[in-house]
Amino acid sequence: MPSSTLTLFNLCCNSIMETVVHKLPSFKLLNPTSSSSHYCSTTTTTRTSKSFRVGSRRRSFSISASASAVREDNQALGSVSLGHITRPDFPILHQEVNGSRLVYLDNAATSQKPTAVLNALQNYYEAYNSNVHRGIHYLSARATDEYELARKKVAAFINALDSREIVFTKNATEAINLVAYSWGLSNLKPEDEVILTIAEHHSAIVPWQLVAQKTGAILKFVSLNQDEAPDVDNLRQMFSRKTKIVVVHHVSNTLASVLPIEEIVLWAHDVGAKVLVDACQSVPHMVVNVQSLNVDFLVASSHKMCGPTGVGFLYGKSELLSAMPPFLGGGEMISDVFLDHSTYAEPPSRFEAGTPAIGEAIGLGAAIDYLSRLGMQKIHDYEIELAKYLYESLLSVPNIHVYGPAPSENVDRAALCSFNIENIHPTDIATFLDQQHGVAIRSGHHCAQPLHRHLGVNASARASLHFYNTKEDVDDFIQALNDTVNFFNSFK
Ligand SMILES: Cc1ncc(COP(=O)(O)O)c(C=O)c1O
Repeated sequence: MPSSTLTLFNLCCNSIMETVVHKLPSFKLLNPTSSSSHYCSTTTTTRTSKSFRVGSRRRSFSISASASAVREDNQALGSVSLGHITRPDFPILHQEVNGSRLVYLDNAATSQKPTAVLNALQNYYEAYNSNVHRGIHYLSARATDEYELARKKVAAFINALDSREIVFTKNATEAINLVAYSWGLSNLKPEDEVILTIAEHHSAIVPWQLVAQKTGAILKFVSLNQDEAPDVDNLRQMFSRKTKIVVVHHVSNTLASVLPIEEIVLWAHDVGAKVLVDACQSVPHMVVNVQSLNVDFLVASSHKMCGPTGVGFLYGKSELLSAMPPFLGGGEMISDVFLDHSTYAEPPSRFEAGTPAIGEAIGLGAAIDYLSRLGMQKIHDYEIELAKYLYESLLSVPNIHVYGPAPSENVDRAALCSFNIENIHPTDIATFLDQQHGVAIRSGHHCAQPLHRHLGVNASARASLHFYNTKEDVDDFIQALNDTVNFFNSFK
């Protein structure tokens, strides 16, 4: 599909669904092991007719659920995937939304939480809720121990040398801001260069724009190559003695491409530059080893890795964190406070002003235990298989463009696909999928507006998977997507 067609379409057309009757969502809990669950159903083929009002017209469409027969064959053959094994651990997945089995494919935005994490949160609030590092009573001592244990778990999970290299933040966004304001403001001078790609999440672009405005540093952006992946050759050519830091994603939340971080670090260190990796879309899905990557800074968010919202982390090499000034001032981050000045605590406390997200950090620790029990390599291997299945299945949909590089022997894609379908607004697709099929995907610019502008579109639809998804989820999504396309094309 020519991108110009889409641009014109997106600029000229409102989403049809914006003007369409909105159905209130309905929710019904399914027992994960009951026969009403999609996975245990003995039904081989069902057909559900629904009608849908657009303007004054009512249109009919139908859903076929014959895939369940294939499912049962697979299970009888014993081909039970990681998705099938782990689904029972996620209570939220076992419900109907808008009259259909929920198919949750918005994992790049946030992941679902296993019972182990929900229990850890509940246990904290029921058994030892207290402030950390402050009280000498039992509850406070226990909360402090568990909070610091969570830090150790994060450090071990990404193979940091020392748990003091882990700073708990509100999320990845705050962690990037921390580096930009603390390291950036004290290390960047006019004409110094910061290298980023046009595929960065806004949370990696905007803080550096703000810091560049204050310091006079220059932001240089790497564009895409012909395969719609960030142009790594071009990135390499951008390095010079002026380069002070490279700020790049590990895995793109839109293109599903993976950057060669180890090589980028070598090139950066060669000219004395630092590397900050936005690992939001890699840490939840693959083994990430900060020592073998040799990155200087790395950030991730708990809520994308089966942990609670409200907590994320910054990894920073000890010598860098020790030399950095505080980001926020307040309790906990000080050594001594006088009326005219203060001295600061050592990292990580120096960067954790005020009461932290205690229960949430402990919940993140429980998520890490859960992921580690499954094994990150196993998760990654399964997701690579899902990624190919999703990509290839989507290509069967007429007039579709899936963004990012095609998977091949040399190219592994993350298990997500951003796409557009000619002449159908992605918001219409996402709304129809949700309201008529219970399929949750994302539409919009995914906080990557410069990238979408480069691709010639305002928005895209995005289906993103995690290890608790199955090929049947993909089948149901594709079936629902074909139905969606037929529905909107019937107006032409
Ligand atoms: C690649 C990437 N970076 C950064 C973020 C920001 O994460 P948070 O909103 O949790 O700070 C996201 C979230 O969508 C992301 O996908």
